[in-house]
Amino acid sequence: MIICSLTFCFCSVVNDAKESVTILVVGASGDLAKRKTYPALLALYKASLLPSVTIIWGFARTEMTHYGFRHHLKPFLNDADECVVDQFLSICNYRPGSSYGDWESMDSILKASPSRNLVVYLATPPNVFAQSAAVLKKTLTLTPTNGFVRLVLEKPFGSDTESCETLLRTLNNQEWLEQQLYRIDHYLGKEMVQNILTLRQQNRWLNSLWNKDAVKSVHIICKESFGTDGRGGYFDRYGIIRDIFQNHLLQLLTLVAMDMPEKSCATKLRNAKLEILRKIPVINLEDCLFGQYEGYKDDSSIENRDTVTPTYACIRTWVHNETWRNVPFVLEAGKALNDRLCEIRLHFRGVKNGQPNSLVLRLQPVPTIFLTANVKTPGFSYNPVSARMQVDYGQALMPDAYTRLLLDVFRGKQANFVRDDELLASWKIFTPILNQTEQLNIVPEPYMRGSTGPDKRVEFLRSVGAIPSWSPPPSAL
Ligand code: NDP
Ligand code: BG6
Repeated sequence: MIICSLTFCFCSVVNDAKESVTILVVGASGDLAKRKTYPALLALYKASLLPSVTIIWGFARTEMTHYGFRHHLKPFLNDADECVVDQFLSICNYRPGSSYGDWESMDSILKASPSRNLVVYLATPPNVFAQSAAVLKKTLTLTPTNGFVRLVLEKPFGSDTESCETLLRTLNNQEWLEQQLYRIDHYLGKEMVQNILTLRQQNRWLNSLWNKDAVKSVHIICKESFGTDGRGGYFDRYGIIRDIFQNHLLQLLTLVAMDMPEKSCATKLRNAKLEILRKIPVINLEDCLFGQYEGYKDDSSIENRDTVTPTYACIRTWVHNETWRNVPFVLEAGKALNDRLCEIRLHFRGVKNGQPNSLVLRLQPVPTIFLTANVKTPGFSYNPVSARMQVDYGQALMPDAYTRLLLDVFRGKQANFVRDDELLASWKIFTPILNQTEQLNIVPEPYMRGSTGPDKRVEFLRSVGAIPSWSPPPSAL
């Protein structure tokens, strides 16, 4: 039974950003900038959510003119209204450079800008973060009066506890303040993820079921139907744990497990998440299943032909507090699987007709909420049958995660960004298992492209207390 279908428009959001801003995209010639950053800026521009005086500068080593850069960006700005795209492109400028002198010229340009507010978006490879941040701090006018300077950073933030600590220390030594730093985890900008808090805050009946007495297990699953195609070079050095688990999946887990703060201000929210991260033990090898899809090594960008980097993992963990004691949290993610699907499944205690009562928050492909319940079979039968109640977001106009997060940067809202202590706590959970798998050279289980994962998956999921093949029961009876 479909009980609700939502339609709303994000244009109605009130923009309380300052009146003007200059945006500097460092690494503007790259993949992220053209596929995510600039399209997100266009969406804000189109919805009149950018400050009225906005100038965007792109900076990278590749030689391009303003015109050449706009030409390079245009194919990625998918909007039916070409006129809006052209207007947007007219505020996008580009300057090539890499030397200290080039940065100084960039600084002079920014100084001449009418705005005292500067947002710097670092869309460069992680190995040049620290260096770029240092140059920025030295050359650019980063202490404007009556304005703000905010630095947006992309993941990965380190590759283990030690490298993360080094990066945090470096930024700290460069005198970047935590309130200036916006570390993006784009999952925090997804519609359904934002909805977790609203659901929990606005439905007291639901909150009373949100604990170990009612919940038997939590399964957070993130399947991708494509492989590492083209990104194998990056991926092979990081693997699925660093790519998805340490950030996206763990953020989802903390939002589900945290105690709801009385006020949802950034500090309280991030404190509540941190508290949960500190209650998650380091991961045990026995609680992990690793997989690698067949054909992964054929990616020409992967140098090591014998690589044992996992492209799939399933991990059971716990939250050692009163609310969640003995409830398994099972995290599962993989590339080149049979589907693109990301869901948070809370399975309640007590199973009837082989189907548990479940609350499922589907993030993608289409944000949907399912609640399964046992109802009477329609007609003469009194047998109970499992049915789903569903909130379907359908075609509701929803901003892309990057669009929403960038709007938060302009508004100075940090709740949806990852704080330094959260980051460190999350690396501490995974670093021991990363070290162990590397030292022991654990060989992942093979699985076929387009399958549901390694053959051992079902048995493993059962053994860790999860339900291997949950799918929503029929909506129409
Ligand atoms: P790219 O490899 O495309 O590089 C981004 C930019 O950085 C390029 O414009 C390049 O420009 C510049 N660059 C590269 N090497 C250097 C260097 N040594 N010194 C200075 N500039 C350099 O990366 P992506 O755009 O894919 O990713 C950017 C960041 O975003 C990375 O941290 C990545 O991990 C992260 N990320 C990317 C995602 C994606 O979908 N692409 C998703 C999530 C995170 P030029 O050569 O012109 O200087
Ligand atoms: C990125 C990972 O952070 O998230 C990618 O680096 C992954 O490997 C991507 O494909 C998934 O994001 P989304 O929004 O497509 O689920």
